[in-house]
Amino acid sequence: PVSVYKNEQEASVQIAARIAKIIRKKQKKGENAVLGLATGATPVIMYAELVRLHKEEGLSFKNVITFNLDEYYPMQPDSAQSYVYFMNEQLFNHVDIKKENIHIPDGTLKKEEIIDFCLNYEKKIEAAGGLDLQVLGIGRTGHIGFNEPGSAPNSGTRLVTLDDLTRRDASRDFGGKENVPTKAITMGIGTIFKAREIVLMAWSKKKAPIVRKAVEGEISGDVPATYLQLSEHVEFILDTSAASELT
Ligand code: F6R
Repeated sequence: PVSVYKNEQEASVQIAARIAKIIRKKQKKGENAVLGLATGATPVIMYAELVRLHKEEGLSFKNVITFNLDEYYPMQPDSAQSYVYFMNEQLFNHVDIKKENIHIPDGTLKKEEIIDFCLNYEKKIEAAGGLDLQVLGIGRTGHIGFNEPGSAPNSGTRLVTLDDLTRRDASRDFGGKENVPTKAITMGIGTIFKAREIVLMAWSKKKAPIVRKAVEGEISGDVPATYLQLSEHVEFILDTSAASELT
């Protein structure tokens, strides 16, 4: 299904409320909530709202286990462009999540360590009980996570090469495209698909053409987000601008 909100603010508050509901429901049962998280500009307000719910409405993250979708490779965690840094700034530093419950692909691995790390990432998600909810943004290439065009529907966590457009879109954060890493470690399409619920969010006119393809286009590896059409547990959450090219 597709849900369209007046603006990014309203949509983000809604998604944060949905996450809070999962966390509280699990808490009551004495269970962990397992969340798949995204970075980038899209989820910033959602994280701010989760922090507000923690500070003002007593939402605890003590029973929350998180798995982030991706990280650039190579990448030092203390670098301002790292997704570790982003998550700490936007969410983790401001809530009561346990450090050991946070998982983000490791941008500091040696090449020969990557395959084992990726297999282990999948195992850790399974051992945690699987993802209750995966939140996604979408790149202008149609990527979800960093699953660029050509990604297989059953792909797992792995090292990938970033599309040129993705590196151009990231160039502002890095002060030039030449500084954007050429690779990343990302959960696969298959990993994302195993989540019990999937929410893809997109805001602004800039995303309207790719949102149209993702929601209405032919299902194809050329636009990896189209695979989501095959899931019965996905919701596309859009603002009016991002939804403006849907027919
Ligand atoms: C981030 C991620 C990416 C972004 C996408 C959109 O963890 O996996 O797929 O969601 O590139 O980025 P923004 O939100 O910056 O437009």
